[in-house]
Amino acid sequence: LKHLLTVEALSDQEVMGLIHRGQAFKHGSIWLPEKKQYFVANLFFENSTRTHKSFEIAEKKLGIDVVDFAADTSSVQKGETLYDTVLTMSAIGVDCVVIRHGDENYYDQLIQSPSIQSSVINGGDGSGQHPTQCLLDLMTIYEEFGSFKGLNVAIIGDITHSRVAKSNMQMLNRLGANVYFSGPRQWYDEIFDVYGTYLPIDELISEMDVLMMLRVQHERHDPDESFSKQEYHHKFGLTVERAKQMKKGAIIMHPAPVNRDVEIADSLVEGLQSRIVKQMTNGVYVRMAILEAVLQGKA
Ligand code: CP
Repeated sequence: LKHLLTVEALSDQEVMGLIHRGQAFKHGSIWLPEKKQYFVANLFFENSTRTHKSFEIAEKKLGIDVVDFAADTSSVQKGETLYDTVLTMSAIGVDCVVIRHGDENYYDQLIQSPSIQSSVINGGDGSGQHPTQCLLDLMTIYEEFGSFKGLNVAIIGDITHSRVAKSNMQMLNRLGANVYFSGPRQWYDEIFDVYGTYLPIDELISEMDVLMMLRVQHERHDPDESFSKQEYHHKFGLTVERAKQMKKGAIIMHPAPVNRDVEIADSLVEGLQSRIVKQMTNGVYVRMAILEAVLQGKA
């Protein structure tokens, strides 16, 4: 791989290769790098805890030199653009940049530039795509069920604003899972119908193998929009009562951060059926696999 920008651009074979390599890293495999020294910079222009810090841990576990960068103390504050920031990183010898940015498809200009040599890993582009979260979610599902074919997976909540939902619906559908959607109609778009079926939450919960709850993304909503946490939880959330209807062996996922008692009841977050903590852990290992593939130019 030269870059990782969307999951759609990966072949099924590349996806499975990254999942298996993530599992191998989790079980102690090591990287034998082709070069003595690699530099990676994590350029986060939107807030992040999991993606940013798990990339940092993945890089350090691989022995990569992590170039410190914080948008609020960089020349971005003097008006420097994303393009010129990445051009600078490339010029000073950074092999790969991990970028989170609020603009969808921010990477187009970067990868088309003949002056930029650095590889780009997309750590989330606005409401566009979140390919590394998708891969860690796939790894978590694969660890649980050993396959995607015929699994019933529901993606529930603020789907329109979720880059995680978009990456996951595309890839789960392609890998043979039956994808379902639920949540407020105003946060659902009919264009998602090509990947799955929209149903009220109470009609699908007992049939699902995976319930993937999404965060309500207030930062992407109209600030004048009224919102009641209790009402959302009651109508669209995974309540304790609803969780009792889940089938045996079914799991709960959430990309986090979690709004406890909004999209999911507080007591379910670390409960027996939850894989939310495991998702975070798997994020480190799948990101090791992604870094290795990008830095060595192969999946
Ligand atoms: N899941 C996820 O992307 O979390 P962060 O925003 O904390 O990186």
